[in-house]
Amino acid sequence: MRATVKVLARRAEVFPEGQLVVHEEFRGLRKPIASLSLQRFNYDGDPSDLPTWQALSGTDGTFADTYCPDGNALAMMSIGILPELHKQGLANRLIDAALVLACELDVEHLMGSYRPSQLGAYMVENVDGSPEFYIQARRADGLPLDPWLRALTRKGMELIRYDAEAMKIEVPLRQFNEYRLTPGMRSRVRHLATSDAGEIWLCGATGHFEINDRSVVYREANVWGKIGRLGFVSGGSAAT
Ligand SMILES: CC(C)(COP(=O)(O)OP(=O)(O)OC[C@H]1O[C@@H](n2cnc3c(N)ncnc32)[C@H](O)[C@@H]1OP(=O)(O)O)[C@@H](O)C(=O)NCCC(=O)NCCS
Repeated sequence: MRATVKVLARRAEVFPEGQLVVHEEFRGLRKPIASLSLQRFNYDGDPSDLPTWQALSGTDGTFADTYCPDGNALAMMSIGILPELHKQGLANRLIDAALVLACELDVEHLMGSYRPSQLGAYMVENVDGSPEFYIQARRADGLPLDPWLRALTRKGMELIRYDAEAMKIEVPLRQFNEYRLTPGMRSRVRHLATSDAGEIWLCGATGHFEINDRSVVYREANVWGKIGRLGFVSGGSAAT
């Protein structure tokens, strides 16, 4: 459920300032090692009017038909750091860059429909768990259990609304079966339960699959959060 290179390239055409990338110099080459993708839209201040993540990303995920050039809000849509470079402060640096961008563009709100980075792993390990519970779960120090929500909370992010159907994608049964049998996936994909919606399968990704005799639907929950105006003064160096 990751954005393809083509989709990311199109986002960079639609909203170039909002596609933040950290590069590393290696033997004269600039290699991207971390990125944060932002969308610009209008927020009326009423959490119940917020769109789903999928609606905000546009019909093809490129932001093309939903980007609002004079929108009063920025939404962090997705972040990715090379796994070998986790826990070195890159997420922190990218959030700082988003705060700087929010100031530069003079928007009122910096927010996001955040995909909890470890929700998939949590759901696989906790058969009776739920996304709502995990999103609210805290460590002993009071910070969220989830790494991405934790990094955001350190910057003043407050949860404002559960995005129950952030992403909903229908896939052919054949595609699901191919995916389920690929090496590396076999051990992660497993049957969880039978519900009115059909058979529920987990796959280690944030969401789950619902399978019935008509369709296979991937469904994912996220959470909307907002960094208050005060957070905007935290500053930091913009990513390059
Ligand atoms: C979630 C994610 C973005 C976090 O990125 P990260 O760069 O590892 O985050 P940071 O380095 O800023 O912070 C992570 C931890 O490392 C610590 N840290 C930061 N710099 C450090 C350093 N130099 N030495 C030791 N620890 C450090 C932070 O304090 C933080 O500690 P915590 O675990 O107590 O919260 C990253 O794991 C990721 O890309 N995951 C996969 C993609 C994903 O799921 N994205 C979210 C949904 S789109």
